[in-house]
Amino acid sequence: MTSPLNHHDSHPPARTHKITLIPGDGIGPEVTDATVAMLETAGRAHGCSFEWHRQDAGADAFKKTGEYIPKALYDSLETNRVGLKGPVTTPIGGGFASINVTLRKKFELFANFRPIRNLAGLHSRYPGVDLIIVRENTEDLYAGLEVMVQPGVAMGMKVITEKASTRVAKFAFEYAAKHNRKRIHSIHKANIMKLTDGLFLDSARKVAAGFPQVEYLEHIIDNTCMQLVLNPYQYDIILTENLYGDILSDLCSAFVGGLGMVPGANLGENCAVFEAVHGSAPDIAGKDMANPTALLRSAILMLEHLDEFATAETVQSALDKVYTEGTVLTRDVGGKSGTKAFTDAVIAAM
Ligand code: NAI
Ligand code: MG
Repeated sequence: MTSPLNHHDSHPPARTHKITLIPGDGIGPEVTDATVAMLETAGRAHGCSFEWHRQDAGADAFKKTGEYIPKALYDSLETNRVGLKGPVTTPIGGGFASINVTLRKKFELFANFRPIRNLAGLHSRYPGVDLIIVRENTEDLYAGLEVMVQPGVAMGMKVITEKASTRVAKFAFEYAAKHNRKRIHSIHKANIMKLTDGLFLDSARKVAAGFPQVEYLEHIIDNTCMQLVLNPYQYDIILTENLYGDILSDLCSAFVGGLGMVPGANLGENCAVFEAVHGSAPDIAGKDMANPTALLRSAILMLEHLDEFATAETVQSALDKVYTEGTVLTRDVGGKSGTKAFTDAVIAAM
């Protein structure tokens, strides 16, 4: 502990942040360890430190505790209100419900914020992309309401509410107004899903009316996929439902180097969980091949959420430096290095 006598006004007091850390599985533990190491080094220079409260989730948690989301995880997030999360594998077809979807619903993390930006120095066929996906995060076909009506006939329910559509639209417009973004496109399929997507659009239009300074447009989802590939620069903020947002996020990640590059934040009134767009990548798990950039950029969003702007800046400039030099990059972005070597290079660049 620093003695009060040592205290010097030009040094801000040390700050410790309690973070719920969910390493997840697959490449999750590799990219989380890397991110924690980079944050610890960056924070040290600015009096910012972390208390990581590690929590298991998914199949690993079930083996240890008999629960897919242990009570300890809920309690930890309830107390800390900030989480950093790696991906968790979700079984296909049967098995347990998605941990990600369950957490987003439970903590009402209603807006999924995903900025798609090129990093300085990394070659892309689409240089200078700067668009944001704001995805509704709590309902739609992800409500998990499926029934077997009779053998051979399954039915799933798409749930869209005015409340959830309005609050995510409000988030997008307030963000646009505050950060001087010019344009919001609602992406939908209301020509076919007249009631559900129709309600989403109605809600967005009502919110849009309160923000005349932000241009408001609507595009249909299939056309949007083509428009994006032809000319992503026409979009500024994409506001959309849960499923469309999921699909468009992976599509847009390709503009900036792929899933290893794109961060995300699940935001609610009282809680925020930061996680990359990508999944557990079983094809490369445990091979020192994963790119931790996506989770690290999610951690930069977390640092900004915590008002740790100096530490965020240190991480960002180290990342820019390593990508600009381009000698120690992971394979997904054309390099030859492993997760660990890349992490060491970012730390050395601080
Ligand atoms: P995925 O995102 O795990 O992988 C898709 C492709 O991108 C793979 O070729 C993978 O190697 C590559 N990739 C992903 N992240 C990478 C990284 N950081 N560095 C380098 N390459 C990377 O998607 P997939 O294969 O469809 O899903 C695998 C599992 O992940 C599924 O169980 C799925 O449910 C789960 N998932 C979990 C998420 C979460 O926890 N938030 C989000 C998305 C999927
Ligand atoms: Mg996804």
